[in-house]
Amino acid sequence: MLASANDLTAARQRIAAAYDPAALEAAGTQLMAVLAEHFHNVESRDAKVLNWNEPAAQVREARRLLDEFLLPPREGLGEGSLVASITSRIAALTRETLARGQNLHHPHYVGHQVPAPIPLAGLFDLVGTITNQCMAIYEMGPWATAVEHAVIDAVGERIGFTSGRFAGLVTSGGSLANLTGLLTARNVTLGDAWSAGLSGRNPAPVLVAQADAHYSVTRSAGILGLGTNQIIPAALDQRRRMDPDQLDRTLSDLRARGTPIIAVSAAACATPIGAFDPLADIADVCRRHKVWLHVDAAHGGALVFSQRHRHLLAGIEQADSIVCDAHKMMFVPALCAMLFYKNREHRIATFHQDAPYLFDPTATELRDYDSGIVNLECTKRSAAFGVWGIWSLLGPQIFADLVDVTIDLAQKFHALLEATDDFVPLHEPQCNIVVFRYEPPELRDAPVEKIDAFQLQLRRAVIESGEFYLVQSRLDGRTILRTTMMNPLTTEDDLRGLLDCIRSAARTLL
Ligand SMILES: Cc1ncc(COP(=O)(O)O)c(C=O)c1O
Repeated sequence: MLASANDLTAARQRIAAAYDPAALEAAGTQLMAVLAEHFHNVESRDAKVLNWNEPAAQVREARRLLDEFLLPPREGLGEGSLVASITSRIAALTRETLARGQNLHHPHYVGHQVPAPIPLAGLFDLVGTITNQCMAIYEMGPWATAVEHAVIDAVGERIGFTSGRFAGLVTSGGSLANLTGLLTARNVTLGDAWSAGLSGRNPAPVLVAQADAHYSVTRSAGILGLGTNQIIPAALDQRRRMDPDQLDRTLSDLRARGTPIIAVSAAACATPIGAFDPLADIADVCRRHKVWLHVDAAHGGALVFSQRHRHLLAGIEQADSIVCDAHKMMFVPALCAMLFYKNREHRIATFHQDAPYLFDPTATELRDYDSGIVNLECTKRSAAFGVWGIWSLLGPQIFADLVDVTIDLAQKFHALLEATDDFVPLHEPQCNIVVFRYEPPELRDAPVEKIDAFQLQLRRAVIESGEFYLVQSRLDGRTILRTTMMNPLTTEDDLRGLLDCIRSAARTLL
């Protein structure tokens, strides 16, 4: 059925209201005031960390707000009052959103490896988002593309790559970056895998992965057609770092059997306790065996900025591919993951396709700037605005500061745990991750299953109280409590408070 002229006029009016710059200005001003108030409350600990609600109740509330939409404007609303209604509705929806979410900026947030990002970084993302500076080819997002290239060049130089000889890309998350890097490694190592696939290869190719590798690394083996049975875990030392001597033996063994090795995937640092593999020694072993070295530095890559901690990444510049998440220890909003190739030629070994609807065959000089050629994503967010904006605003020192302060917090927390006799620290932190167990005297002789179950009960009690946010995990078959210092505003006093909070939760449970 054709729309009547009146219907279309009404449609145009609704669209005009949705696109009205005056509404954007008024609502944006109000929004910033709401956000500033939120940060003030949260940073001054005058709020809960996690606003715990049952998921079904959250969905009902979100649905209620969906159904109570404001537009179309009620009869008789003048232009000025529509802007006022939009502004107050946006403020109300934002307050609701803030009241029901996770408060990463609360100094009692010591949970997942997701930071309390520098709020100002979000402003640069906002510009990219609301003007939709997407890319796939250069002309779709020329400035966003330039920003990504500038960020890749600047971070790559910090890593220690030779200017002009390396390449990189920005993608949506460390998982996708690991998959992309390992796909490149597979294609370079096997030559014809992109077109011929992997079936019928005998011996079947393997991926040698740090035994504590993040699941996105091992998942990649499934996605890339290697099969997860083809993952060879690289043995770890006492501190859960890859052992180069044992790696040497593993690679010698595989080479002796003629097994193709897609890559060695090392970690800097690995997720469970934040252990950094000795990259220089591992790179040496890989070079001798002519094996691609991939370094998953999604979490710890930002240590390249720190004078104090950079040594933990010594040798990283020898890796063939490196993943570094800016949305972890560079403290910008998710998602902004970087993938680097030491050898620039490898950037075009990942995908081999043509797409006449995108790539202009006469514009070969632009190929290097067409993100779709090197990225799994076609339409891609302008993900680097946050890093670029903060770096342009405050300089790279801010990234060093964030790394130094959060690792210092982890070391202080570890010292606090060690000074007690009811907490059991489980490792000396190299990064900003600290894992431990709480074992009060009442449980000292209890079976391990009971102690393990108690950690889960404790954590649930703590997070549901909204006092602190920490996570649980498993290590060597045992349940543990896990903290990551992802908020630079956390203080040693806050961490003392965490111990007290756990103790008082335990008293209510025992
Ligand atoms: C070592 C490591 N690699 C990769 C990832 C995955 O990154 P993302 O969550 O950005 O996909 C994580 C996430 O915590 C990680 O710790």
